[in-house]
Amino acid sequence: MIDNLEKFKKEIEEKASQITSPEALEEFRLYYLSRKGLLNDLFENLKNIDKSIKGSYGKALNDLKNFAIEIFEVKSKYISKGKTKGSMIDDYTLPGKTFNTGSKHLLTQALEDITKIFERIGFKVYEGPEIEDEYHNFDALNTPDYHPSRDMQDTFYISGKDKDKKYLLRTHTSPGQIRVMENQQPPVRVIVPGKSYRNEAISSRSLSMFHQVEGLYVDKNVTFRELKGTLDFFAKEFFGKDIKTRLRPSFFPFTEPSGEMDVECFLCKSKGCRICKYTGWLEILGCGMVDPDVFKFVNYDPEVYSGFAFGMGIERTLLIRHGIPDIRMFYENDVRFLKQF
Ligand code: DAH
Repeated sequence: MIDNLEKFKKEIEEKASQITSPEALEEFRLYYLSRKGLLNDLFENLKNIDKSIKGSYGKALNDLKNFAIEIFEVKSKYISKGKTKGSMIDDYTLPGKTFNTGSKHLLTQALEDITKIFERIGFKVYEGPEIEDEYHNFDALNTPDYHPSRDMQDTFYISGKDKDKKYLLRTHTSPGQIRVMENQQPPVRVIVPGKSYRNEAISSRSLSMFHQVEGLYVDKNVTFRELKGTLDFFAKEFFGKDIKTRLRPSFFPFTEPSGEMDVECFLCKSKGCRICKYTGWLEILGCGMVDPDVFKFVNYDPEVYSGFAFGMGIERTLLIRHGIPDIRMFYENDVRFLKQF
């Protein structure tokens, strides 16, 4: 209903721009503002409007009427001064038209922020393909055939041009590590931002497509301490200087040792609440020292080089940073949500 009034408003604006004579002005008055005019009809119809929207509709209708009256008065002034070409724009006292300007999506902003943080400490950006082969997504990452993540239930397999090869939508950005190392000798310092896909049941916590940022640093004498320092630096830049972090032992086939990094819960400040499941901490990424077996796949000598890697889920991280209750909100394109960021 209110949309209808918007249409009338546009129509009034259009008609107003055509008022160039006293006759046209009178025609405008009769059509919209006289006792038998359109606005009066709309007011009479108010009694038939559904109760639930009557209040807002009545207000919008009033605004429309005031709008038409204002136009009529301004135009009357112009016509009485003998001006025929005056447009509404000539009256600078009238309210201006507002435009809906777009803005960057929260995910785009976050990916840009994360990229900038790592670029400042010497990381380059590499973007790998979203359609991967099994070799890069699993084998070369030391993830053997029997690993559960290779199951059809978890991975979107697709057919590709080479019938002997299995293709899939990459399940993480980690194959980017392999592609970079295949093409470059150390030192390597890259991040790989991009989309990943998993055959997940859609819920408030997971989607079948999401974003990750992978990181890889390989050189002589890279230590676990540097991994810790780098990730802690990132967390403080991204979440705020006061944020506390911790590393927990974990397992990933392509890193040894492996860990997961938590940041302190933004809501309860580590006291324990529903969001952090009363642990006081929220997990944001997986990481570890690159497994020497992975180096063998890319012909790096594990006796000479060492490295660290990490991978984080961006939607997850943003849920934490902004306290967003449902991951699906990122993709609903509801302006009320998007314009908060
Ligand atoms: N690829 C892992 C995942 O999607 C995340 C990850 C863990 C990436 C450890 C890494 C790493 O580079 O070292 O769950």
